Amino acid sequence: MCGIYCYIGKKKALPILIDGLKKLEYRGYDSSGIAYVTDKVNIIKEKGKIENLEKLLDNNIETFLGIGHTRWATHGVVNEINAHPHKQGKITIVHNGIIENYSKLKQELSNYNLKSQTDTEVLCCLIDKLYNEEKNILKALNKLKDKVIGSYALGVILNDDLNSLYAIKKDSPLILANSDIGNFIASDIPAIIKYTNKYIILENDEIAHLTKDNITIYNNLNIIDKKINTFEGNIENCTKNGYDDFMLKEIYEQPDVIKNTIDSFNMDFDLNKYNKIHIVGCGSAYHAGLIGKYLIEKYLNIETNVYVASEYRYNKSFYDKNTLVIFISQSGETADTLACVKKVKNDNIDTLGIVNVVSSSIAREVDTVIYTKAGCEIAVATTKAYTSQIVILTLLALKNKFEFEKQIFNKILNKNYLDIAKLLYKKESIFFIGRGIDYYLSLEASLKLKEISYIHSEAYQAGELKHGTISLIDENSYVIAINTNKDLSEKTISNIKEVKARNCKVIYIVSEELDEENNFYDEKIVIPKIEQYITPILAIIPLQLIAYNVAKLKGCDIDKPKNLAKSVTVE
Ligand code: G6P
Repeated sequence: MCGIYCYIGKKKALPILIDGLKKLEYRGYDSSGIAYVTDKVNIIKEKGKIENLEKLLDNNIETFLGIGHTRWATHGVVNEINAHPHKQGKITIVHNGIIENYSKLKQELSNYNLKSQTDTEVLCCLIDKLYNEEKNILKALNKLKDKVIGSYALGVILNDDLNSLYAIKKDSPLILANSDIGNFIASDIPAIIKYTNKYIILENDEIAHLTKDNITIYNNLNIIDKKINTFEGNIENCTKNGYDDFMLKEIYEQPDVIKNTIDSFNMDFDLNKYNKIHIVGCGSAYHAGLIGKYLIEKYLNIETNVYVASEYRYNKSFYDKNTLVIFISQSGETADTLACVKKVKNDNIDTLGIVNVVSSSIAREVDTVIYTKAGCEIAVATTKAYTSQIVILTLLALKNKFEFEKQIFNKILNKNYLDIAKLLYKKESIFFIGRGIDYYLSLEASLKLKEISYIHSEAYQAGELKHGTISLIDENSYVIAINTNKDLSEKTISNIKEVKARNCKVIYIVSEELDEENNFYDEKIVIPKIEQYITPILAIIPLQLIAYNVAKLKGCDIDKPKNLAKSVTVE
């Protein structure tokens, strides 16, 4: 994670750097910093969000070159010293990634006086040492691939050449862009789109040399030609559009996103030629994969297993040439998911990506990519990307486009969730229960609630609760029970009665055809009647809005929850 943004050009650099870093703040926001060049290299860093750093900067300083960073801490606590940039000897760097062999490197570099606890500062020392040996920065950077284990995307300033910037990357994303006002190094497109929609993707071990007029790219010290990509989206228009928070806006965008995703879907890809499917993802993408498993097994009768990427990567793989591995990712940059793509491809197994960000690493790496049409998602807690992933999985499972009525979505979007949120926001722990597909929805609902409101919550298979966890249920507990699955409805109701018998409060989410007056719940949300396969996309909406309203009542920073980042580019 972490955002890198560097500029060299004819405009004053500091306001440009701050503005670009803000566009990358979704990648991490515990601290930030900038190194800029006057007659020397100056460094300013601050704990907290970028607005804190902004207050320390004088936009009028005559500087036309700088490297900036917004951090999500990996090595070393969150403080100003550990924030980037780091400077050692003649080298100043910003870094995204993790240096796995940094302890060993640190021992070899013991003549340097380290100030921080970071792996990045060790890397900075290493580059300085290599530069002193080679007397050539390109040669020094080119040696990193032999010395460093781990991932890195770097922006580099060299004391001996204060009219240049350098970039190098391995397994962490980095793009370069040329514009009328100068040249950029960035972790992602939103930071450059204001100036140009053309960009170059730096590949592993390539090195870029930027001056105010030119970008030169080297592979193994030879100059290479690179493809110039064009970004066709409309990230620039990504504003809150009158909503209090991006998350709320994105929840309300779901009917349009679902429609766009269905409309743009091309039915060419046939899952039926495989006899086994694996689905791999992290966080909500994993949860979407679970819904996919349910649909693919139900409608196509193909055995489907879903894996968390960080586990899949290191587990023994049971696949063969009749297996398809589907990778789900909003950002297309999640390090664990990307590493799994590489492993599976290396074993010559077919890969399909369900990805939102066009031309992202996972989109480029898989054999076939299907894009979700969620548009840019800014809130760290995903909503519309998650539902659009389920839409693609539904289309693949049904092998048919399905109709859906926007009005039904609008009806559920516009219900009042505040009253339910008021019952929940002072609680310390909340349980979600369901069976089958409703359990998979519970997992996502529970994640949404805990990540933005910081209330502990657990999702349980409704039938499993009695094997231990029910001991936590008492008259102070709240249980949110989901019942949308006709086949399992009676069983789910029995489980809800079991918790109700322990005097807890129950919020019941039920689909219209299963709804009947009863006394085993305290509050009820009815999901309008709709085709069974669309129910998950509809049923998640109240759960997203309950989480949103709870977090709002608690006064949380909804779009940027503590400790999180949207794009997780470290293991
Ligand atoms: C982070 C985000 C989650 C997301 C997960 C996977 O943890 O906070 O919302 O589900 O990464 O991200 P991806 O971009 O691969 O879907």
